Amino acid sequence: MTIVLSHRLQWLADRVHGPSVADIGTDHALLPIYLIQSGRCTSAIASDVAAGPCRSAAENVQRYGLRRVISVRQGNGLATIRPGEVDTVVIAGMGGATASEILRACPEVVDTLGRVLIQPMNASGAVRQWLLDAGFTLKEEAVVTEEGRFYEVLSAERGTAPDAAYERYRGHPEEMRFAVHYGPFLLTADDAVTRAYFQQLWKKLREQLQQVRQGTSASALRRAEDLEAHMAFIARWHPVG
Ligand SMILES: C[S@@+](CC[C@H](N)C(=O)[O-])C[C@H]1O[C@@H](n2cnc3c(N)ncnc32)[C@H](O)[C@@H]1O
Repeated sequence: MTIVLSHRLQWLADRVHGPSVADIGTDHALLPIYLIQSGRCTSAIASDVAAGPCRSAAENVQRYGLRRVISVRQGNGLATIRPGEVDTVVIAGMGGATASEILRACPEVVDTLGRVLIQPMNASGAVRQWLLDAGFTLKEEAVVTEEGRFYEVLSAERGTAPDAAYERYRGHPEEMRFAVHYGPFLLTADDAVTRAYFQQLWKKLREQLQQVRQGTSASALRRAEDLEAHMAFIARWHPVG
């Protein structure tokens, strides 16, 4: 039986660089199973911090007869990986702050990685900031939809600083802040899904602004100004209809 992945996991799987990969926060281990089945990788590590997901991963690995090539490991973040053991790490389905914390916590493993593939559930800016700080170059970003929800997906490689993806923003601190927050490739993407994603984002910010404007405190005024700046920046790249 061949695994069929969701859109967001498929986007990540298509960018995995073999022969060995670690899926951190693997839960069901569907991604590593698919990567072996499809021949994209010859071995994989399915790692999770919690016992339940590790049990479910081990059951699936067993069901697909892949125990010899997929190692299920329980532990926090990259602590389960030895330096040099894999070239690519995938972190999907957790918050951007957690994903970047996982990467920040294990420099000895990160130093040996060639590629990181991340699908943060929120706070993608924290991930982009970590990538910049750690000397990774953003290669691709996209917005994919699944069951009516938008997901950002990011692919980055060890690169030579400065990251060319931010070229047009460098030297303009405020613009750079927004580019890290929203994603340099997403800002210039011209596909219908990304446009719809930014429209939704802009409308959410407008709702927040309407609420914040009811306050008169100095912090409410500052927050309103910041929201207006975010909305103006988005509208520059993705005009709101
Ligand atoms: C929502 S699931 C995502 C599963 C799968 N990666 C996906 O995208 O479909 C998030 C998983 O991350 C695991 N997780 C959360 N924090 C973690 C950490 N610090 N290290 C490893 N796994 C973690 C959770 O136990 C959970 O199984």
